[in-house]
Amino acid sequence: MTRRNFFFGTAGAGVGSYSYAYYFEPSWLEATEKQVAIARGRLRRPFRILHLSDLHASEYIPMRYLVEAFEKGLAAKPDLICLTGDYITSDRDFDAAAYVQALKRLTSAAPTYAALGNHDGGDWAARAGWYPTPDPVIQILEKAGVTVLRNRNEQVATTAGAVHLVGLGDWWSNDCHGARAFEGVPLEESPIICLNHNPDGKEECLQAPWELMLCGHTHGGQVMVPFYGPPRIPIIDKRYAHGLNPFDGGRWIHTTRGVGNILGFRINCRPELSTLVLT
Ligand SMILES: [Fe+2]
Repeated sequence: MTRRNFFFGTAGAGVGSYSYAYYFEPSWLEATEKQVAIARGRLRRPFRILHLSDLHASEYIPMRYLVEAFEKGLAAKPDLICLTGDYITSDRDFDAAAYVQALKRLTSAAPTYAALGNHDGGDWAARAGWYPTPDPVIQILEKAGVTVLRNRNEQVATTAGAVHLVGLGDWWSNDCHGARAFEGVPLEESPIICLNHNPDGKEECLQAPWELMLCGHTHGGQVMVPFYGPPRIPIIDKRYAHGLNPFDGGRWIHTTRGVGNILGFRINCRPELSTLVLT
């Protein structure tokens, strides 16, 4: 190989990898489906939950991509939709009115519930110079008909049966209050599902009676190195970086890779539309 061939070959591979990581994989949505056996409560039939997270509307994640993701997610015919935080990245580069219209596609298809993430406003976002409270994000969600569970719980009845949802506030924003969130949760009737943006927030409710916890936050690492895994995962307990993983007492934690991303790239870690089927 001549020096000239080597140079152009290497440069070509670099441009190809860059284009793949920034222009192809970030919008290459993968729809996944996992079965979860739940002991408590009686469901009339398998109960389908569409779990979406980390939408990150921003200069890198346009609304048309989120609408496409919602349409593809709804093809799974969910009985319930759960959103686990990071609807925006910062306080700019998204259109609130367009966001409300986009989210209405979800709420018109199934009951839709949401927990908040660190990017959605509060202590963590304020340190980055963004929203000091999640009120602007809560407004977008509620205008679209999404029920926001911020350290509180609610029973949801669907044609497939009833579940009890508990939503925690964000762990990094010092807004994750397990005792308050689980106050008054009925123990005998329905499966109890906890919406919690950051899997580390489980430390706030280790003894609480949830059976399935839905999380996001990690983006699956955004970059997955073959035979090694993600080089950087922003959580302490790395067991819950992505996927459906067992937790003490026959419980489950599901961490989805999320729909959006930060800074516009993904490598070997496609955006995910997760469906969980409770049986
Ligand atoms: Fe995120």
